[in-house]
Amino acid sequence: MRIDGGHDTGRKTRIPRHIAIIMDGNGRWANQRGKPRTFGHMAGAKTVREIVEHSRRTGVGCLTLYAFSSDNWSRPQDEVTALMRLFRRHLAAETPKCVENDVRMSVVGRRDRLSPELVHAIAAAEDATRDCASLHLRLAVDYSARDTMVRAATAAQGRELSRDAFSSLLASVNHDDGTAGDVDLLIRTGGEQRLSDFLLWECAYAELVFSRRMWPEFGTADFDAAIEDFHGRDRRFGGLSRAI
Ligand code: FPP
Repeated sequence: MRIDGGHDTGRKTRIPRHIAIIMDGNGRWANQRGKPRTFGHMAGAKTVREIVEHSRRTGVGCLTLYAFSSDNWSRPQDEVTALMRLFRRHLAAETPKCVENDVRMSVVGRRDRLSPELVHAIAAAEDATRDCASLHLRLAVDYSARDTMVRAATAAQGRELSRDAFSSLLASVNHDDGTAGDVDLLIRTGGEQRLSDFLLWECAYAELVFSRRMWPEFGTADFDAAIEDFHGRDRRFGGLSRAI
């Protein structure tokens, strides 16, 4: 493991250990084609599959995808219902493939507002892939970084905490085992340049790459270009440049 947050895979390039993606632009991509927004989400699910397969091949350790933010509950009911159905189907359909390809799947975020069927599908996917180790795929569903921090602080009950202890509390309120660690590279598609309440604590020293591509058209070449961009960054973590 390299100290700058990437790891050597035997190839010349350094692969970010933990990549997080804000998958934005499904709705606009569909609108541009005169289709409903849910059509964009379905196309987005295909991109998820491609990028997961590619991440595994590339040697990424952990991939966290922002599938549904806690603020997304304010979207029209039919869109929310379609997204929840898509997540449930995706989890069920992808589980055997994940087992076959040694991909561990887990879901971070709140579960108390999800349907029992979705909670059951999450538990089944997590159980079936628990021992897979080639890639850890995390889907963030009903996730809010700020809400997570408030709940972790509440759970601390006034105790003084180290950073590691706070990280563990963040993980536990999110049904997470805490192994994902800090984000090395955060990619946002869809042309916007903001974090939208995603992994605010874990992205403290993440390198940020913003792509103008809408998520359904984001391909493996775009993913590789983001990693290339990452390679060009001088990660100092608050210290001095390696060049000095
Ligand atoms: C943002 O695009 C996307 C979402 C809120 C949902 C992400 C969901 C998927 C990619 C579908 C499949 C996911 C899984 C895990 C199966 P937007 O709707 O905000 O797009 P817009 O900014 O163009 O309106």
